[in-house]
Amino acid sequence: MSISFSEDANDQLITTSRVLEEDANEGSLRPHTLREYIGQEKAKGNLEVFIKAAQMRHESLDHVLLHGPPGLGKTTLAAIIANEMGVNMRITSGPAIEKAGDLVAMLTNLNEGDILFVDEIHRLNRAYEEILYPAMEDYAIDIILGKGPSANSLHLELPHFTLIGATTRSGQLTAPLRDRFGVTLRLELYTAEELQRIVTRSAGILGVNITPEGACEIASRSRGTPRVANRMLRRVRDFAQVRAGGNITKDVANEALLSLEVDHLGFDALDRRMLRAIIEFYGGGPVGLDTLAATINEEAVTLEDVYEPYLLQQGFLTRTPRGRCVTAKAYEHLGIPFHGVEQLHF
Ligand code: ADE
Repeated sequence: MSISFSEDANDQLITTSRVLEEDANEGSLRPHTLREYIGQEKAKGNLEVFIKAAQMRHESLDHVLLHGPPGLGKTTLAAIIANEMGVNMRITSGPAIEKAGDLVAMLTNLNEGDILFVDEIHRLNRAYEEILYPAMEDYAIDIILGKGPSANSLHLELPHFTLIGATTRSGQLTAPLRDRFGVTLRLELYTAEELQRIVTRSAGILGVNITPEGACEIASRSRGTPRVANRMLRRVRDFAQVRAGGNITKDVANEALLSLEVDHLGFDALDRRMLRAIIEFYGGGPVGLDTLAATINEEAVTLEDVYEPYLLQQGFLTRTPRGRCVTAKAYEHLGIPFHGVEQLHF
């Protein structure tokens, strides 16, 4: 599996949903079956039907596109699909495919029914996408050998495989590629109750004592994201071990997370910086995403993919055609007096 580690200082925050080096061992906490997988009930319910139907017909599963914010379990779900179908999965990612030959080699090495998982599929080179079209539709590819008048075309049949594409930005996929996925599943941010069950399950696997209130405290501060919840659990476990005899209670979790600068809503320094900048520099908004990103010296895609989903879900931020606006809740949270009604920007 290829895991890319971020080099951006802000991405080292405990609350980032991007993959960090310390997450390399998150595999041990991953569920292996749909039954073990907590949350995403709609996606899970649909998948269960599609998997059963494909098995009853002794066919490969239709191609699946998984989209949604980072850290919600797209790779985990793909591995579960492979496990439930009883097939192997090959993992690659859009940016890792540097040559057409890389993609052809992956496709021709698949066995009947196998899954090819392409993470960040929106970053696949457009020229190589065209190799995928006949591969997905007809399970075949045509390779051109040589150049000029002596060029020959080689037709290769492929096994019936399943492509699972994962993306944080389905809007960036070209329509022809998007249309070739028979199944599209959107993963949503998890509820605090689902995250509490995930934290409790993970604590059991790690052999850590945790009270229901301790699990609830971590869950409610992990911004709807299992990757963040599991990372916080490991850090809180360190505090508990050194300072509290190994038991994670509500107070231990609270103290540990405050030391890590995560506030009671799960916001970190960058969330607060973003909200504060909109208020202090742009009167609460609207402000365009690129302008805001430049103001706080952060990448626009990081704000959009990693930070906004949770701030939007929690009602601290709104998106309007003219840019981002904060709500009265953001003023209140930051302790800044709010004068006047929230503006509606159309
Ligand atoms: N660990 C990470 N994500 C999970 C999920 N959705 N269910 C159970 N355990 C998890």
